[in-house]
Amino acid sequence: MATALLKKAVNRIPSSPSFKLSLLRAHASEAQAQQVEPKARSTSTPKTFQIYRWNPDSPSKPELRSYEINLKDCGPMVLDALIKIKNEIDPTLTFRRSCREGICGSCAMNIDGCNGLACLTKIPSSSAEATTVTPLPHMFVIKDLVVDMTNFYNQYKSIEPWLKRKNPAENEGKEILQSKKDRAKLDGMYECILCACCSTSCPSYWWNPESYLGPAALLHANRWISDSRDEYTKERLEAVNDEFKLYRCHTILNCARACPKGLNPGKQIQHIKSLQPKA
Ligand code: SF4
Ligand code: SF4
Ligand code: FES
Repeated sequence: MATALLKKAVNRIPSSPSFKLSLLRAHASEAQAQQVEPKARSTSTPKTFQIYRWNPDSPSKPELRSYEINLKDCGPMVLDALIKIKNEIDPTLTFRRSCREGICGSCAMNIDGCNGLACLTKIPSSSAEATTVTPLPHMFVIKDLVVDMTNFYNQYKSIEPWLKRKNPAENEGKEILQSKKDRAKLDGMYECILCACCSTSCPSYWWNPESYLGPAALLHANRWISDSRDEYTKERLEAVNDEFKLYRCHTILNCARACPKGLNPGKQIQHIKSLQPKA
């Protein structure tokens, strides 16, 4: 359409045929450039990811391997990038994921030095700098970004994370009711998805991973200590009242900074300490 109008206009210009031809060519190449240039701009935003790789079946040492992807063909989150790399570049890349919306906790890893969920962490927009992805720190690596969570889950199990009663419920077979006020005491704890971002960012947990329960397990201990329906509060407090299990927490609060759900395990640990009998 624009070209037809231009042709009409050119025919009215009183000048030589060669001038008219060059005018039309100039217009054509400008139109082509307008079509092609934005497309070229929009199809290429390279970004490099340096990803920790280690395969227990291979004799080679762990390494950071570089992968370049085009951000224009990729979703906005680090998990999108990992899935793209696995699907299109290297199917051997191994990582955990399930829900891709911050619910299951399985995609926890260290991204540019901070623990977080890959599905909730935006790909840093600067394409000049590579983004580094490594497993959760101070954990045994099973393969690539997958760490061994056995010790973490055993610690969670050790705090007996279920309702314990001494007396039968008033209405057998029915829910044990709770006031709104008592229910509100569980806020800031029930939301935990057991991703381990907090425990693996805690220096005390790094140095005592087997004897210190760590922020996640202690947050859950406090969740049951604080539950008005549970009748084992005293026993629960006694079970964690230990120099190593509880008192390795020095309130550094790395845990609160790392939690992708905005929880503050350090505060819950303080609550448990405040309920312990004074020496
Ligand atoms: S507040 Fe306690 S649990 Fe949290 S990072 Fe510090 S030492 Fe670890
Ligand atoms: S407290 Fe937060 S960081 Fe720690 S396990 Fe729960 S959700 Fe993850
Ligand atoms: S995939 Fe479930 S929390 Fe990220």
